Amino acid sequence: MPHATTDKDRSVIAKYVLEAHGKERQLETALQAQIAGAKLPELQTALVDHLEVTRRQIKDLESRLSELGEDTGGLPGPAKVVEAAAGLASTVANKSLAAAKGPVQLLRGTSPADNELRNVRDCYWNEAEEIAHYRVIETIATQLGDTPTARLARKHREEEEAMQATLEELLPTITRIVAETEGDLPAKS
Ligand SMILES: [Fe+2]
Repeated sequence: MPHATTDKDRSVIAKYVLEAHGKERQLETALQAQIAGAKLPELQTALVDHLEVTRRQIKDLESRLSELGEDTGGLPGPAKVVEAAAGLASTVANKSLAAAKGPVQLLRGTSPADNELRNVRDCYWNEAEEIAHYRVIETIATQLGDTPTARLARKHREEEEAMQATLEELLPTITRIVAETEGDLPAKS
C-alpha cells in the first residue's frame, strides 16, 4: 500500500520546498542584474526567458507551500523555524545577498567578455544547485506519498536542466570572444 502523507511528512517536505523557494528568489534578483549586463544576444534571450520561468516557479512553489501548511508571506511556520535553527539563510537574506552581489558580478573580470564568461559560469553552477534541490524534493515527496509536490519538483528540475544545457552550449562562443579580445585569436569573419 502506498504511504499516506502525514503532517510530519508535510513538514519535512515543506522544509526543502522553502529552501528551493529561497534559492529561486535569490536567482530572480541575480538574473535581473545579469540581463542588464549581458552582451551576447543569445545569452540575453536565454536569461530573459529563464527569468520568466523563475518567476512562475516562485509562484508555483508558494501555492505548493500553502497547500503544505506553510505561508511564505506570514508568520514563520514550523519549517521556517527549522530552516532558521539550521543556520540557513532566510528568503529575505538570500534576496539581499543576491542584490548586493549583482553589481559586483557586473564589474569583475579582466574585460567585458571575461566578465560575461564568469557570469555564465556562475549561472551554470546555480542551475546545478537548483537541480539538486529539486532532485531531493522529488525523491522525498515520492517516498512520503506526496505526488503533487513530486510532480512539481520534476517539472522544475527539467526546466533547470534545459537552462543549464543552453548555458553549456553558449560557453564555447563566449570563451571564443575572450580568446579574440584578450588573446591574439583573429575575429571570425
Ligand atoms: Fe534556474
